[in-house]
Amino acid sequence: MPPQIPLIEHYRDHLPVTAATPRLTLGEGGTPLVRAAALERETGIPEIWLKIEGANPTGSFKDRGMVLAIAKAMEDGAKAVLCASTGNTSASAAAYAARAGLPCIVVLPAGHVALGKLSQAIAFGARVVAIKGSFDDALALSRELAAGGEGTLVNSVNPHRIDGQKTAAFEVCEVLGDAPEWLCIPVGNAGNITAYWKGFNEARESKMAKRRPAMYGFQAAGAAPIVNGEIVKDPQTIATAIRIGNPASWNGAVRARDESGGSITAVTDEEILDAYKFLAQQEGVFCEPASAAAVAGLRKLAQTGTKPTQVVCVLTGNGMKDPDRAITLGPTIVETAPTIEAVRAAIRG
Ligand code: F0G
Repeated sequence: MPPQIPLIEHYRDHLPVTAATPRLTLGEGGTPLVRAAALERETGIPEIWLKIEGANPTGSFKDRGMVLAIAKAMEDGAKAVLCASTGNTSASAAAYAARAGLPCIVVLPAGHVALGKLSQAIAFGARVVAIKGSFDDALALSRELAAGGEGTLVNSVNPHRIDGQKTAAFEVCEVLGDAPEWLCIPVGNAGNITAYWKGFNEARESKMAKRRPAMYGFQAAGAAPIVNGEIVKDPQTIATAIRIGNPASWNGAVRARDESGGSITAVTDEEILDAYKFLAQQEGVFCEPASAAAVAGLRKLAQTGTKPTQVVCVLTGNGMKDPDRAITLGPTIVETAPTIEAVRAAIRG
């Protein structure tokens, strides 16, 4: 395999990259697109692909946007970066800030960030502030901190985040030779669905693709403001990554839905967990619960309306991010004596 070219170098003609932009990289992008045979059999859809964004350096799609946001912050002489997060944004910001030599401040909803993500922010040396409030509260506070000069905001309200993240749509078009018929994606703060739609539009303009996909977004039923058409004051879901009641890119998500002829619908926590288990145990693909919302939604749509022939599901984050949830998938592990009889008995259960 050829040595990896930095994402922002590879796609520089499609990004606001100048000669002065540092070529920051941790090896982001170029993630696998993997066929989902068990899901194809179950749904009767002939071609389903999984875009494994958990293969990025910090284990989520955030790295694509963060590398550009932090490179631009360096270029602009930022003294620090800051963000609100349900976990993945903070892990990514902390990593790229460490790489760039910039201090990083993260504001998190206390008690609602998966352990893997929290450990990343701490390990990368970020200043971690946990508030007794929601992600939406944390984002409002972070905007205020940034306006007050505390640092550059690297949430997806920063347009460089969206531009970096759109590169995933380019990769999908390059591998498939065109845009897929459908794209299925989880929706939280709605930056990623906005970014993919921008990417697919630009892919068509620059002849990377002939068509654009119908965009299907999925929110957790207890945190579904776009589906309900109103802000959710106290969002609740086991998919903590998308536990958001007032998405910053609400309008971008609605535009992607309407311009593409897709939809944004809700999936229950039960459906999310069922898809999470299916992916792990039938496909051998371990994503985090929020990511499984894309597959939960596809399974639901496949039972009702007309079936597409080709779908890409975006698996946004790595399953290892949320070990507490993962260990609930199997029976409790009981310790046994280190003898062959005891181990054989334990195997039989
Ligand atoms: N999947 C995962 C694993 C996420 O971490 C997020 C968002 C989403 C999906 C939804 O993407 O917000 O662009 O609609 N995580 C943010 C964070 C909010 O702080 O890490 P979105």
